[in-house]
Formats: sequence, structure tokens, C-alpha cells
Amino acid sequence: MVPKEYFLTWNRQVGAVTMAVSGAQRDEFILEDGKRIYDFTSTSFQTSFGHTCDPIRKRIHQQLDAMPIASPKAIFGLKQQVSSDLLDLLDLSATDGRRGKIFYTVSGSEAVENALKMARHFTGRQIILARKASYHGASLGAMSVSGDWRSDPHVNFSAGTVRIPEPHDDPSGAATADIIRKTGGEKIAAVIVETISGVNGVAIPPMSWWEAIGELCREHGILLICDEVLSGFGRTGPAFAFQHFSLQPDLVCMSKGITGGYVPFGAVWVSDRIGEQYNDDVLACGLTNYGHPLGLAALDGVLSLLKDPSFGTQKQALESCFSDLLCELVEQHSCIKGFRNRGLLAAIDFACALPPWQTFLEAGLYVVLRDQMLILAPPFISTSERLAEAFQSLDKVVRNTLD
Ligand SMILES: Cc1ncc(COP(=O)(O)O)c(C=O)c1O
Repeated sequence: MVPKEYFLTWNRQVGAVTMAVSGAQRDEFILEDGKRIYDFTSTSFQTSFGHTCDPIRKRIHQQLDAMPIASPKAIFGLKQQVSSDLLDLLDLSATDGRRGKIFYTVSGSEAVENALKMARHFTGRQIILARKASYHGASLGAMSVSGDWRSDPHVNFSAGTVRIPEPHDDPSGAATADIIRKTGGEKIAAVIVETISGVNGVAIPPMSWWEAIGELCREHGILLICDEVLSGFGRTGPAFAFQHFSLQPDLVCMSKGITGGYVPFGAVWVSDRIGEQYNDDVLACGLTNYGHPLGLAALDGVLSLLKDPSFGTQKQALESCFSDLLCELVEQHSCIKGFRNRGLLAAIDFACALPPWQTFLEAGLYVVLRDQMLILAPPFISTSERLAEAFQSLDKVVRNTLD
């Protein structure tokens, strides 16, 4: 059923596939007819802590009673403490001896917008280098640096964007170095990258590429923006994907898992070098709902979970179970070419076209399909048993429709 009153996103409205839900629990949606659907992608990669996570819900309830709304100018205990705890989690003090600074937003796209604005203002340069296969958001600026079908129908600001090849097509960074030379390094403000990409294929750049990018950034004074909107807050194993590669980004974009999806929220981290520019310059960035108390409360709940050793142990066990189940699935089906996986994020490559999304839903699975690729990102609070059941259902779909 396609609603007449509101739009469905990213779809031709007539014939769009929908899902009539009556609720959600832990790692599953409950449909109106009572059927339960395993949330194999943590909804849109934000429900990392499940649909009924008490530590997050309780913090939001408390804050709703205490102070649900605050001025962007307001200084209060929760804002102070959560910002400090988030800086601890980012653990980027080695960048320049201090801890950097946070700018709050309401979404991932706005985190990217504000990172682009600050990078351009700080450097006084206009060009942004961006990858060919990437997604950074749906707003005009974020869309201009995305390399994804979702930008195609729109006019955007891509005149300020120069594309660089995908890391696996340029492992030594030689082609990227050439592009920088031709563009003029002195015109380039930043390179923006999803540290580990999401729906564009969970691409995991080789270390040689990161080394080359780091070297080029240093040589030309180009800032490194890591978009961790999808990969942050434990999705790929460590708190942030840049920790896999020991990177020292200048800006980090965050959203999705930052509140487990309970409150629309986001943030940009900037290094002290950038932060201190605004001690005297005007920071021409702001939002009505900047530092929203309900977002901060949800983030407080997320940070408490990520710091909890027993949660960490359970999550690690689930990560290794996920990786084992992926290996088993791939071994059993010749139509699967391979997979890429870090933590609780994976892309499975198929040799042929996949059945429609509805087929997976009928099998009790909520997944993301992209071309001949299946993207999976189960909630951290799922269990090995639940994951094994979900893989059994997936195995059946592959066997019945593709083998
Ligand atoms: C890597 C990345 N950056 C930015 C965004 C945009 O976030 P939002 O949809 O919250 O604006 C997304 C959303 O999918 C994303 O995956």
C-alpha cells in the first residue's frame, strides 16, 4: 500500500515496496499481521543497540522530565560531560596533543555539510576530493561529494568536487597524486572519505592507500575528513573505523549509531588546529536544535554501553559468530563470489542478479540490496542463536532463488 499523504524515500512512489509495522523489539520488526522480521541491517544502520534498549531509553525519559529543550547558547552539565566522554571515545589527542572539539548536528548530512564548511573556511580553499563510489548525504553540499545514483537527478555544487579513484583501483595512490598535481594542491581544502564504506560495498581501503593519502595530505596541506556516519560507534569493531588504520583525521563526521537511532542527532569532531581558528574568527555554522538535550541523553546511553566491558565481550563474540556464518554461507553457494566484512558490517557479492527485496521480507529478513550485492549489519544486541537463524533463512532464499 502506497500512502497518499506522505512520500516514501528513494523510490518511484507507485509500486514502491513498503512494510506495514505495528512495533519493534530487540532485533526485529513486528508487522501488522504479527509476522516478525529480523532487522539484518539495524534498520538504516542506526539501530545498533536494538529497538528496545533500556540504557538509552531510560536516559531519554530522564532528560525529557528534566530539561527536554535547550538554547544553542546553553551550557549545561549533560552537554559538558557527554562532549568530554565523546572526545575520550574518539581518542584523537595524539593529533596535536589536545583533544579537539565537537560541533553538534541533527543528521549525518548536516555533519558532512558543517565539516565541508569548516574545511573550506579554515583552509581558504574550495576544492574537495571525493571518492567515485561514496555516499555522504542527501543535502546539496553532501550530495555534491557523494558518488552514488542518489545525487544523479539533482543539481548540486559538484563543481567544487574532484573525483579520485576507488582505493582498490589505486592502491599506491599514484593516480590520486596525479589528480592532485593537475588540480593544484594549493586549491584543495580536503579529501572526504567513508573510512569503511557502507551501501556502496563495504570497501576496506588497503593500508598502502591510507599511507599514500596521509602523505599527500601532509605534503599539500589538505585536510582529511573521515565520514564515520555509518561506520562509527562500534559498527566495524572498534569505536571508529579510522582506528583500524591508526589514522589521524582532521575532521570526523558522526551520526546514526551516535544515539542508536532513538533521537535524530549527529556531530563533527575537529582537531584543535581547526577549533582554535574560531577562538577569534566567527564560526558561521549553527542549527536551531544544536546540542539537543534528548540527543545528548541518548548519546550518554550509547557511551555507557560502549564503555561496559560485558557489552564489549558480548559484541566481540557476536562479531566472530557473524564472520564464521558469512564464511559458511559463501562456501555453500557457488553463486556467491565473496564478501567483505569488519565487525558487524558486511557486503556479500553475488555472481547474478538478486531476487527482489520482497522475497527476503517474506523469508523474515530486512536487508539492503544494491546491484548484485547484499549488505548486512545486524544489531549489536542480537545473539549468536538469532544470527544463526537469520543466516539459515538467508541460506534458504539463496538456495531457492539463485542456486
Ligand atoms: C556514510 C554516510 N554519510 C552520511 C550519511 C547521511 O546521513 P543522514 O541520512 O542522517 O543525513 C549517510 C546516510 O546513510 C551515510 O551512510
